[in-house]
Amino acid sequence: MYKVALVGVGGISGAHIPAWEGTDNAELVALCDIRPERTEKFAETKHIYTDFEEMLEKEEFDILDICLPTYLHADYAIKAMECGKHVICEKPISLREEDVDRVYNTAKKNNVKFMVAHVLRFWPEYELLKEIYDTKKYGKLLSGTMTRLGCYPRWSWDGWMMDEKRSGLVPFDLHIHDLDYMVYAFGKPEVAYKYRSQLPDQDFLTINYNFGEFSINTESSWYATSYPFTAEFRFQFENALVANENGKMIIYLRDDEKIDLSADAEGDTGEINLPKSDAYANEIKYFFECIENDKPVDKFDPDELKCVLNIINNL
Ligand SMILES: NC(=O)c1ccc[n+]([C@@H]2O[C@H](COP(=O)([O-])OP(=O)(O)OC[C@H]3O[C@@H](n4cnc5c(N)ncnc54)[C@H](O)[C@@H]3O)[C@@H](O)[C@H]2O)c1
Repeated sequence: MYKVALVGVGGISGAHIPAWEGTDNAELVALCDIRPERTEKFAETKHIYTDFEEMLEKEEFDILDICLPTYLHADYAIKAMECGKHVICEKPISLREEDVDRVYNTAKKNNVKFMVAHVLRFWPEYELLKEIYDTKKYGKLLSGTMTRLGCYPRWSWDGWMMDEKRSGLVPFDLHIHDLDYMVYAFGKPEVAYKYRSQLPDQDFLTINYNFGEFSINTESSWYATSYPFTAEFRFQFENALVANENGKMIIYLRDDEKIDLSADAEGDTGEINLPKSDAYANEIKYFFECIENDKPVDKFDPDELKCVLNIINNL
C-alpha cells in the first residue's frame, strides 16, 4: 500500500481527494493546509498539518499531491522530491520556464517520479479529438476553435489568483489548459495574432495559433460578471466537424448525418459513447500506475512544458 499526502486543501483538492480515495493500493493518509478550517472535516480519518515542513519531517508517505497556489508549485515539489517523495502537482508547473529543468533534474537525481496534472490530456473528449487527428479518420485538420471562459476568481485563498505575480492571471491559469493540450496534440505553434483586454476585475485573451497546415483560434476569459464556466472546442476536418459544445460531443458528418458521442446520448450511434469519466481520477490513476509499475511518466515531455511557458512568457 502506497501512502499519499496532499498539500493545499482548496478548490481543486475537491477533485483530487476523492480520486485518491478511489485508487486501489493507495491510501491518502495526510492533509496539509495553512487554514485549519479547510481540513477540519477530515480530522478523524487523516493526519492533519498546517505546516508543510512539519508534514515532510514527521509523516511517513510515498507520494505528495500538490494542490497549492501556482507560485509555490516548483519549490514545494523540489523540497518533497529531495526527501524521496514522488510528486504529482497541479498545473502549471511554474510561471518560469527555467523551473521545468529544475524540477525534472531534481526528480532524476532523487530517482522519483514527477507529473504536472494537465487534466485535458486525460479528458475523454480531448483524448478522442487527438485520436481523430492522429488517425486522420476524417481527413486532415483544417481549423480549430477552443474556448475557456468564466468569471473573475474572487474565491481564491488570499486573492492569490487575482495577483499576476502569484497566478500569472488568465494566460497561466486558464489559457494554459488549452495551450498545453495543443502543444501535446499538434506540436509547437506560432502566435499569429493576439489581443488581450484587461481591467482590474476582468481579463480577456484571444490568440490565433498557426500550426502551418491549420490554425486554431482560442478565447480565454475571466469576465467581471457571473458568466458560467464553459470549456468548449470545435475542430473542422476535411470530412467532419468535431464539436464539444453545450455539454455534448458531436461529430457532424456530410449529408446532415451526425454522431452524438455524449455519455447520455440515446440510441445506437455505431460508435462507443464517451464514458461519463472523471478526468481528475484518470490523471491520478495514470500517475499512480507509473509509480506502481515503475514506468516512465512519458505522457509528459518536459520540452512541451517549456514550450508552453515560453509562448506565454513571450505574449
Ligand atoms: N486542473 C484544473 O482544472 C484546476 C482547476 C483549478 C485550479 N487548478 C490549479 O490548482 C492550484 C490550486 O488552485 P485552487 O483553485 O485550489 O486554489 P485555492 O485558493 O482554492 O486553494 C489553495 C489552498 O492552498 C492553501 N495554502 C496556501 N499556501 C499554503 C502553504 N504554504 N501551505 C499549505 N497550504 C497552503 C490555501 O489555504 C488554500 O486552501 C492552482 O495552481 C491552480 O492553477 C487547477
